Amino acid sequence: MTKLLGKTAIVTGASSGIGEATALALAAEGAKIALVARREERLQALSNKIKNRGGQAISLVADIADLNKAQQSVHQTYDAFGSVDILVNSAGVMFLSSIAEANITDWQNMIQLDLLSLMTLSKTALSYMQQQGSGHIINISSVMGRTIWARRSAGYSAAKWGVGAFSEALRQEAIASNVRVTLIEPGAVDTELSHNITNPTVKEEVLGYVANVEALESEDIASAILYAVTQPNRVNVNEILLRPLKQEF
Ligand SMILES: NC(=O)c1ccc[n+]([C@@H]2O[C@H](COP(=O)([O-])OP(=O)(O)OC[C@H]3O[C@@H](n4cnc5c(N)ncnc54)[C@H](OP(=O)(O)O)[C@@H]3O)[C@@H](O)[C@H]2O)c1
Repeated sequence: MTKLLGKTAIVTGASSGIGEATALALAAEGAKIALVARREERLQALSNKIKNRGGQAISLVADIADLNKAQQSVHQTYDAFGSVDILVNSAGVMFLSSIAEANITDWQNMIQLDLLSLMTLSKTALSYMQQQGSGHIINISSVMGRTIWARRSAGYSAAKWGVGAFSEALRQEAIASNVRVTLIEPGAVDTELSHNITNPTVKEEVLGYVANVEALESEDIASAILYAVTQPNRVNVNEILLRPLKQEF
């Protein structure tokens, strides 16, 4: 359990779901983890869990939709650990609805967090990684960054399509600094994400869908991320798309 010994990782969205599972998986391989999210108690509990298992973690409580705070979280990680080796951009919201019923503020908040904050964190981490001559940025997109769920995913897909485009541009630019970039595209995962959908009709429908397709667990995505970050340096795992067996689109 030492594949990431000496490495440091920032994980956004670490207070629940995929981010939390990923933080645990990276810590179990020896990485020092900076946990980023808004819910302080959740981060503290996770940090304690990692420490009780012999790992190292710090909690950075921040609303990273505020782009200054997003940048700050990367600087704080460097100040605490002395390097920025892995960034996992997992923080996100998913406000699904038809275009006709969409709340413009939901679109704004979703693009601010799912896309702009991810871009800002990536840019800030890249500046440290360029100086180090190494690093790995993992961006969590979605199957809905590749396909459209008609009358539901317009705003979310627009944000996640952006994540895909940005990640490919980042991958090409980062090659010169030996920095790797991986895009993760999960299908349905059983997390709190669907519970926070603001449109009540769509929320009920999505929760039913998640149960019907026997959704993935957060740990399944964490395993894919762990696979990507523990490959030999010459291997850049560019994309991993994974769906529950029963998910069609
Ligand atoms: N679940 C799925 O089916 C699925 C499928 C494909 C892709 N994804 C993607 O996977 C990623 C993780 O989602 P999840 O499923 O793990 O959902 P989740 O359990 O709801 O996790 C979302 C995380 O984002 C954090 N967050 C939200 N707003 C934030 C803000 N303004 N500042 C800082 N942190 C914020 C939340 O923490 P706080 O509330 O404590 O801030 C939470 O830790 C997202 O990018 C999502 O789009 C999920």
